[in-house]
Amino acid sequence: MAAAAAAPRGPDAGGEKRILCVGLVCLDIISVVDTYPAEDSDTRCVSQRWQRGGNASNTCTVLALLGAPCAFMGSLAPGHAADFVLADLRRHGVDVCHAVPQPGGRLPVSVVIASARRGTRTILHAGGNLPDVTARDFERVDLSQYKWIHWEARNAAEQAAMMRRVERHNRARPAAERVGTSVEVEKPREELLELLALGSVVFISKDVARHFGYRSAPEALRGLRSRVQPGATLICAWAEEGADAMGPDGELVHSDAFPPETLVDTLGAGDTFNAAVIFALSAGRSLRDALTFGCRIAGRKCGIQGFDGIV
Ligand code: FRU
Repeated sequence: MAAAAAAPRGPDAGGEKRILCVGLVCLDIISVVDTYPAEDSDTRCVSQRWQRGGNASNTCTVLALLGAPCAFMGSLAPGHAADFVLADLRRHGVDVCHAVPQPGGRLPVSVVIASARRGTRTILHAGGNLPDVTARDFERVDLSQYKWIHWEARNAAEQAAMMRRVERHNRARPAAERVGTSVEVEKPREELLELLALGSVVFISKDVARHFGYRSAPEALRGLRSRVQPGATLICAWAEEGADAMGPDGELVHSDAFPPETLVDTLGAGDTFNAAVIFALSAGRSLRDALTFGCRIAGRKCGIQGFDGIV
Protein backbone atom coordinates (compact mmCIF):
# COMPACT_ATOMS: atom_id res chain seq x y z
CA MET A 1 0.00 0.00 0.00
CA ALA A 2 2.86 2.38 0.83
CA ALA A 3 3.80 2.71 -2.83
CA ALA A 4 0.39 4.23 -3.55
CA ALA A 5 1.52 7.37 -1.79
CA ALA A 6 4.73 7.72 -3.85
CA ALA A 7 5.63 11.18 -5.15
CA PRO A 8 3.67 12.27 -8.22
CA ARG A 9 5.43 11.55 -11.50
CA GLY A 10 5.91 14.09 -14.25
CA PRO A 11 4.22 13.92 -17.62
CA ASP A 12 5.08 10.80 -19.58
CA ALA A 13 8.40 10.27 -21.27
CA GLY A 14 6.97 11.61 -24.53
CA GLY A 15 5.96 14.79 -22.66
CA GLU A 16 2.28 13.95 -23.12
CA LYS A 17 0.03 15.31 -20.40
CA ARG A 18 -2.18 12.85 -18.56
CA ILE A 19 -5.86 12.38 -17.85
CA LEU A 20 -6.90 12.04 -14.20
CA CYS A 21 -10.10 10.29 -13.08
CA VAL A 22 -11.41 10.95 -9.57
CA GLY A 23 -13.92 8.56 -8.00
CA LEU A 24 -14.49 4.98 -6.98
CA VAL A 25 -12.37 1.87 -7.16
CA CYS A 26 -13.96 -1.31 -5.85
CA LEU A 27 -13.81 -5.05 -6.27
CA ASP A 28 -16.34 -6.67 -8.60
CA ILE A 29 -16.97 -10.35 -8.00
CA ILE A 30 -18.67 -11.39 -11.21
CA SER A 31 -20.64 -14.58 -11.61
CA VAL A 32 -21.58 -15.29 -15.19
CA VAL A 33 -24.75 -17.35 -15.38
CA ASP A 34 -26.63 -18.76 -18.32
CA THR A 35 -29.92 -17.27 -17.26
CA TYR A 36 -30.74 -15.04 -14.34
CA PRO A 37 -31.51 -17.29 -11.35
CA ALA A 38 -34.78 -17.51 -9.52
CA GLU A 39 -34.83 -16.42 -5.88
CA ASP A 40 -33.94 -19.21 -3.43
CA SER A 41 -32.57 -21.44 -6.21
CA ASP A 42 -29.16 -23.18 -6.42
CA THR A 43 -27.42 -22.39 -9.70
CA ARG A 44 -24.08 -23.28 -11.25
CA CYS A 45 -22.17 -20.36 -12.77
CA VAL A 46 -20.72 -20.56 -16.25
CA SER A 47 -17.68 -18.75 -14.84
CA GLN A 48 -16.68 -16.50 -12.00
CA ARG A 49 -13.96 -13.85 -11.74
CA TRP A 50 -12.62 -10.98 -9.69
CA GLN A 51 -12.39 -7.75 -11.60
CA ARG A 52 -11.42 -4.24 -10.56
CA GLY A 53 -14.49 -2.02 -10.76
CA GLY A 54 -15.83 1.42 -9.90
CA ASN A 55 -16.75 4.02 -12.51
CA ALA A 56 -13.62 6.17 -12.33
CA SER A 57 -11.39 3.10 -12.14
CA ASN A 58 -13.12 1.49 -15.16
CA THR A 59 -12.80 4.74 -17.09
CA CYS A 60 -9.06 4.70 -16.33
CA THR A 61 -8.81 1.11 -17.60
CA VAL A 62 -10.34 2.05 -20.93
CA LEU A 63 -8.29 5.26 -21.28
CA ALA A 64 -5.14 3.21 -20.68
CA LEU A 65 -6.22 0.57 -23.20
CA LEU A 66 -6.87 3.33 -25.74
CA GLY A 67 -3.30 4.50 -25.16
CA ALA A 68 -3.87 7.64 -23.08
CA PRO A 69 -1.50 8.19 -20.15
CA CYS A 70 -3.82 8.37 -17.16
CA ALA A 71 -4.00 8.40 -13.39
CA PHE A 72 -6.57 7.34 -10.82
CA MET A 73 -7.51 9.28 -7.69
CA GLY A 74 -9.68 7.62 -5.06
CA SER A 75 -9.61 5.99 -1.65
CA LEU A 76 -8.03 2.62 -0.93
CA ALA A 77 -8.44 0.48 2.18
CA PRO A 78 -5.89 -1.88 3.65
CA GLY A 79 -6.42 -5.57 2.82
CA HIS A 80 -6.57 -8.19 0.08
CA ALA A 81 -9.26 -6.59 -2.05
CA ALA A 82 -7.38 -3.27 -2.17
CA ASP A 83 -4.09 -5.05 -2.94
CA PHE A 84 -5.83 -6.78 -5.83
CA VAL A 85 -7.27 -3.58 -7.33
CA LEU A 86 -4.01 -1.67 -6.84
CA ALA A 87 -2.01 -4.38 -8.62
CA ASP A 88 -4.57 -4.40 -11.42
CA LEU A 89 -4.41 -0.60 -11.85
CA ARG A 90 -0.63 -0.93 -12.17
CA ARG A 91 -0.93 -3.86 -14.58
CA HIS A 92 -2.96 -1.62 -16.85
CA GLY A 93 -0.39 1.15 -16.61
CA VAL A 94 -2.69 3.47 -14.65
CA ASP A 95 -0.68 5.84 -12.46
CA VAL A 96 -1.70 5.36 -8.82
CA CYS A 97 0.31 8.18 -7.27
CA HIS A 98 -2.95 9.92 -6.29
CA ALA A 99 -4.68 6.85 -4.89
CA VAL A 100 -5.16 7.75 -1.23
CA PRO A 101 -4.49 4.89 1.20
CA GLN A 102 -6.86 5.22 4.16
CA PRO A 103 -5.61 3.83 7.48
CA GLY A 104 -8.69 1.64 8.05
CA GLY A 105 -12.00 0.64 6.54
CA ARG A 106 -13.21 -1.79 3.91
CA LEU A 107 -12.99 -1.45 0.15
CA PRO A 108 -16.43 -1.43 -1.49
CA VAL A 109 -17.32 -4.74 -3.11
CA SER A 110 -19.96 -5.47 -5.74
CA VAL A 111 -21.37 -8.90 -6.37
CA VAL A 112 -22.44 -8.91 -9.99
CA ILE A 113 -24.71 -11.45 -11.66
CA ALA A 114 -23.99 -11.31 -15.37
CA SER A 115 -26.58 -13.09 -17.46
CA ALA A 116 -25.00 -14.53 -20.60
CA ARG A 117 -28.37 -15.06 -22.30
CA ARG A 118 -29.53 -11.46 -22.05
CA GLY A 119 -26.31 -9.51 -21.44
CA THR A 120 -27.75 -7.92 -18.30
CA ARG A 121 -25.67 -7.15 -15.24
CA THR A 122 -27.32 -7.08 -11.85
CA ILE A 123 -25.17 -5.30 -9.28
CA LEU A 124 -25.33 -5.78 -5.51
CA HIS A 125 -23.05 -3.08 -4.17
CA ALA A 126 -21.68 -3.01 -0.61
CA GLY A 127 -20.43 0.54 -0.24
CA GLY A 128 -17.76 -0.13 2.37
CA ASN A 129 -16.95 2.61 4.85
CA LEU A 130 -14.09 4.52 3.30
CA PRO A 131 -14.11 8.32 3.28
CA ASP A 132 -13.95 9.77 -0.22
CA VAL A 133 -10.93 11.80 -1.29
CA THR A 134 -11.20 15.46 -0.31
CA ALA A 135 -10.36 18.84 -1.81
CA ARG A 136 -7.38 18.78 0.56
CA ASP A 137 -6.10 15.54 -1.02
CA PHE A 138 -6.66 17.14 -4.41
CA GLU A 139 -4.36 20.04 -3.52
CA ARG A 140 -1.46 17.62 -4.00
CA VAL A 141 -2.30 17.29 -7.69
CA ASP A 142 0.04 19.33 -9.87
CA LEU A 143 -2.50 20.56 -12.40
CA SER A 144 0.15 21.43 -14.98
CA GLN A 145 0.72 17.69 -15.55
CA TYR A 146 -2.85 17.03 -16.67
CA LYS A 147 -4.73 17.88 -19.82
CA TRP A 148 -8.06 16.60 -18.53
CA ILE A 149 -9.62 15.78 -15.16
CA HIS A 150 -12.79 13.73 -14.85
CA TRP A 151 -14.93 13.35 -11.71
CA GLU A 152 -17.45 10.64 -10.95
CA ALA A 153 -19.98 12.54 -8.82
CA ARG A 154 -19.82 11.27 -5.22
CA ASN A 155 -18.99 13.69 -2.37
CA ALA A 156 -20.32 16.70 -4.24
CA ALA A 157 -19.26 19.54 -1.92
CA GLU A 158 -15.61 18.40 -1.87
CA GLN A 159 -15.64 17.68 -5.58
CA ALA A 160 -17.12 21.11 -6.34
CA ALA A 161 -14.18 22.65 -4.45
CA MET A 162 -11.76 20.55 -6.56
CA MET A 163 -13.45 21.67 -9.76
CA ARG A 164 -13.36 25.31 -8.71
CA ARG A 165 -9.64 24.98 -8.09
CA VAL A 166 -9.19 23.82 -11.70
CA GLU A 167 -11.40 26.70 -12.92
CA ARG A 168 -9.18 29.21 -11.08
CA HIS A 169 -6.08 27.56 -12.53
CA ASN A 170 -7.54 27.75 -16.04
CA ARG A 171 -8.56 31.40 -15.78
CA ALA A 172 -4.95 32.44 -15.38
CA ARG A 173 -3.73 30.45 -18.39
CA PRO A 174 -3.82 30.58 -22.18
CA ALA A 175 -6.19 28.12 -23.89
CA ALA A 176 -3.45 25.64 -24.78
CA GLU A 177 -2.50 25.18 -21.12
CA ARG A 178 -5.98 24.83 -19.66
CA VAL A 179 -7.12 21.58 -18.10
CA GLY A 180 -10.29 20.13 -19.61
CA THR A 181 -12.87 19.06 -17.03
CA SER A 182 -15.74 16.62 -17.06
CA VAL A 183 -18.14 15.24 -14.50
CA GLU A 184 -20.41 12.22 -14.61
CA VAL A 185 -23.68 12.47 -12.70
CA GLU A 186 -24.98 8.92 -12.78
CA LYS A 187 -27.08 8.66 -9.63
CA PRO A 188 -30.14 10.89 -9.33
CA ARG A 189 -29.22 12.00 -5.81
CA GLU A 190 -30.21 15.56 -4.98
CA GLU A 191 -26.82 16.57 -3.52
CA LEU A 192 -25.00 15.51 -6.70
CA LEU A 193 -27.02 17.79 -8.94
CA GLU A 194 -25.04 20.90 -8.00
CA LEU A 195 -22.17 19.39 -10.01
CA LEU A 196 -24.18 19.83 -13.22
CA ALA A 197 -23.24 23.51 -13.01
CA LEU A 198 -19.50 22.76 -13.02
CA GLY A 199 -17.22 21.18 -15.58
CA SER A 200 -16.84 21.86 -19.28
CA VAL A 201 -18.36 18.48 -20.15
CA VAL A 202 -21.22 16.98 -18.15
CA PHE A 203 -22.30 13.35 -18.59
CA ILE A 204 -25.76 12.52 -17.31
CA SER A 205 -27.21 9.03 -17.17
CA LYS A 206 -30.54 7.75 -18.36
CA ASP A 207 -31.47 7.44 -14.66
CA VAL A 208 -30.81 11.13 -14.04
CA ALA A 209 -32.74 12.09 -17.17
CA ARG A 210 -35.69 9.95 -16.06
CA HIS A 211 -35.51 11.37 -12.55
CA PHE A 212 -36.30 14.75 -14.12
CA GLY A 213 -39.17 13.19 -16.08
CA TYR A 214 -37.51 13.08 -19.51
CA ARG A 215 -38.19 10.15 -21.79
CA SER A 216 -35.32 10.49 -24.24
CA ALA A 217 -31.79 11.85 -24.37
CA PRO A 218 -32.60 14.84 -26.64
CA GLU A 219 -35.51 15.79 -24.37
CA ALA A 220 -33.22 15.62 -21.32
CA LEU A 221 -30.54 17.73 -22.99
CA ARG A 222 -33.01 20.44 -23.98
CA GLY A 223 -34.54 20.43 -20.52
CA LEU A 224 -31.34 20.39 -18.49
CA ARG A 225 -29.28 22.75 -20.60
CA SER A 226 -30.01 25.70 -18.33
CA ARG A 227 -28.39 23.82 -15.43
CA VAL A 228 -24.92 23.60 -17.01
CA GLN A 229 -22.63 26.58 -17.21
CA PRO A 230 -22.47 28.65 -20.42
CA GLY A 231 -19.95 27.10 -22.80
CA ALA A 232 -20.36 23.60 -21.38
CA THR A 233 -21.31 20.45 -23.27
CA LEU A 234 -24.01 18.12 -21.97
CA ILE A 235 -23.97 14.44 -22.96
CA CYS A 236 -26.51 11.70 -22.34
CA ALA A 237 -26.12 8.06 -23.39
CA TRP A 238 -29.27 5.96 -23.70
CA ALA A 239 -28.17 2.30 -24.10
CA GLU A 240 -29.33 0.79 -27.39
CA GLU A 241 -30.62 4.16 -28.59
CA GLY A 242 -27.07 5.53 -28.71
CA ALA A 243 -26.09 8.90 -27.28
CA ASP A 244 -26.89 12.56 -27.73
CA ALA A 245 -24.94 15.68 -26.89
CA MET A 246 -25.53 19.40 -26.85
CA GLY A 247 -22.48 21.59 -27.33
CA PRO A 248 -22.04 25.23 -26.31
CA ASP A 249 -23.86 26.45 -29.46
CA GLY A 250 -27.00 24.54 -28.44
CA GLU A 251 -26.92 22.24 -31.46
CA LEU A 252 -27.96 18.64 -30.82
CA VAL A 253 -25.60 15.89 -31.98
CA HIS A 254 -26.58 12.22 -32.11
CA SER A 255 -24.79 8.91 -32.55
CA ASP A 256 -26.50 5.59 -32.98
CA ALA A 257 -25.36 2.68 -30.83
CA PHE A 258 -23.02 0.06 -32.30
CA PRO A 259 -24.37 -3.13 -30.74
CA PRO A 260 -22.10 -6.17 -30.94
CA GLU A 261 -23.23 -9.27 -32.81
CA THR A 262 -23.76 -10.98 -29.47
CA LEU A 263 -24.34 -9.07 -26.27
CA VAL A 264 -21.87 -10.57 -23.79
CA ASP A 265 -21.23 -8.21 -20.85
CA THR A 266 -22.59 -4.72 -20.26
CA LEU A 267 -20.84 -4.11 -16.91
CA GLY A 268 -18.97 -0.80 -17.22
CA ALA A 269 -20.34 0.05 -20.68
CA GLY A 270 -21.20 3.58 -19.50
CA ASP A 271 -17.73 4.04 -18.00
CA THR A 272 -16.28 2.88 -21.32
CA PHE A 273 -18.41 5.38 -23.24
CA ASN A 274 -17.21 8.20 -20.96
CA ALA A 275 -13.56 7.15 -21.39
CA ALA A 276 -13.77 7.06 -25.17
CA VAL A 277 -15.54 10.43 -25.36
CA ILE A 278 -12.96 12.02 -23.03
CA PHE A 279 -10.14 10.40 -25.02
CA ALA A 280 -11.42 11.90 -28.27
CA LEU A 281 -12.34 15.35 -26.91
CA SER A 282 -9.02 15.71 -25.09
CA ALA A 283 -7.29 14.93 -28.39
CA GLY A 284 -9.11 17.87 -29.98
CA ARG A 285 -11.68 15.86 -31.95
CA SER A 286 -15.13 17.29 -32.66
CA LEU A 287 -18.12 16.55 -30.43
CA ARG A 288 -19.74 14.52 -33.21
CA ASP A 289 -16.60 12.40 -33.67
CA ALA A 290 -16.19 11.93 -29.94
CA LEU A 291 -19.80 10.81 -29.51
CA THR A 292 -19.55 8.29 -32.34
CA PHE A 293 -16.23 7.01 -31.00
CA GLY A 294 -17.77 6.67 -27.52
CA CYS A 295 -20.68 4.61 -28.86
CA ARG A 296 -18.38 2.47 -31.00
CA ILE A 297 -16.00 1.58 -28.16
CA ALA A 298 -18.88 1.03 -25.70
CA GLY A 299 -20.48 -1.32 -28.24
CA ARG A 300 -17.24 -3.23 -28.57
CA LYS A 301 -17.04 -3.57 -24.78
CA CYS A 302 -20.52 -5.11 -24.68
CA GLY A 303 -19.31 -7.86 -27.03
CA ILE A 304 -16.53 -9.08 -24.70
CA GLN A 305 -16.15 -10.09 -21.05
CA GLY A 306 -14.34 -7.35 -19.13
CA PHE A 307 -12.27 -4.67 -20.81
CA ASP A 308 -9.06 -6.29 -22.04
CA GLY A 309 -9.32 -6.74 -25.78
CA ILE A 310 -11.44 -3.64 -26.30
CA VAL A 311 -8.91 -2.25 -28.81
C1 FRU B 1 -19.92 -0.24 -13.30
C2 FRU B 1 -19.49 -0.14 -11.86
C3 FRU B 1 -18.97 -1.45 -11.31
C4 FRU B 1 -19.22 -1.29 -9.84
C5 FRU B 1 -20.49 -0.48 -9.78
C6 FRU B 1 -20.49 0.51 -8.66
O1 FRU B 1 -20.28 0.99 -13.82
O2 FRU B 1 -18.51 0.86 -11.69
O3 FRU B 1 -17.66 -1.75 -11.69
O4 FRU B 1 -19.37 -2.48 -9.18
O5 FRU B 1 -20.60 0.20 -11.02
O6 FRU B 1 -21.71 1.23 -8.62
